[in-house]
Amino acid sequence: MQAQVSSREQIASLGPWFHNLHLPDGTQTAPDHPFGDFPQFKWQHVAQAVPEDLQGWTVLDIGCNAGFYTFELARRGAQVLGIDVEPMYVSQARWAARQFGLEQQVDFIEGDVYQLMSSSRRYDLVWFTGVFYHLRYPTLALDLVRRATARLLVFQSMTMPGEPQEPVPPDLPLERRDLMLAESWPKMAFVEQAVARDNSNWWVPNASCVEALLRSAGFEVLCRPEHEFYVCRPTAVPPRSHGDLTRLLRVLTGPDS
Ligand SMILES: C[S@@+](CC[C@H](N)C(=O)[O-])C[C@H]1O[C@@H](n2cnc3c(N)ncnc32)[C@H](O)[C@@H]1O
Repeated sequence: MQAQVSSREQIASLGPWFHNLHLPDGTQTAPDHPFGDFPQFKWQHVAQAVPEDLQGWTVLDIGCNAGFYTFELARRGAQVLGIDVEPMYVSQARWAARQFGLEQQVDFIEGDVYQLMSSSRRYDLVWFTGVFYHLRYPTLALDLVRRATARLLVFQSMTMPGEPQEPVPPDLPLERRDLMLAESWPKMAFVEQAVARDNSNWWVPNASCVEALLRSAGFEVLCRPEHEFYVCRPTAVPPRSHGDLTRLLRVLTGPDS
């Protein structure tokens, strides 16, 4: 009883929490989460689309928050690096790692997806969920994620309503731009102010756009195990985006990058 009270106090002092972690002593970090048991109920569907045995795999969890996915992947044997721009979440994740006894398999650092610009390191699996729509430069981030992915990507974004549609024709006559108004055309809605009172939201793609963006960044979509979740592998052919990214990196980081 004493231990539970103390654990609750620590949870409160580290909060507010976005991930509801079920700690070994039975306490939960966000038991009254408005989404429910989040993200456990998402993981229940996504888990079967990820290899059960991740021994020997390196994983990068971008926007790791309190580390829910980091911990699940570490339990499958992976060595996981979680990065997040928000120091409060990094503190939560580090504390939770100690509660789970997973300190040897996980590492959490304060970091930004854009820092991948200055790293050529690759990870077997890159976990990039819940971050894309928070970025003002989302396609840059996706291209950087592609560069960092050796075997598998798990991607998620908030999306506009609707299901993915067939890819659009490879070329569009100028006078047929009306086709861009069709639901099937890849689109992103720009958020000038806020969604759900959150002004960290910038771009909300439709499902066709997510798939088109993933393809053009050099990913093949293998499956969609859960609403808005995409499991992908990098394609062998260099993506169309490669030239732009290379030029941008040269401009930003100098000719030797
Ligand atoms: C909606 S939460 C998603 C958390 C977790 N990835 C998930 O899927 O449940 C977004 C997280 O991304 C982090 N984040 C936002 N922008 C980021 C950036 N540029 N680089 C790294 N993390 C970022 C936020 O601090 C937050 O923890």
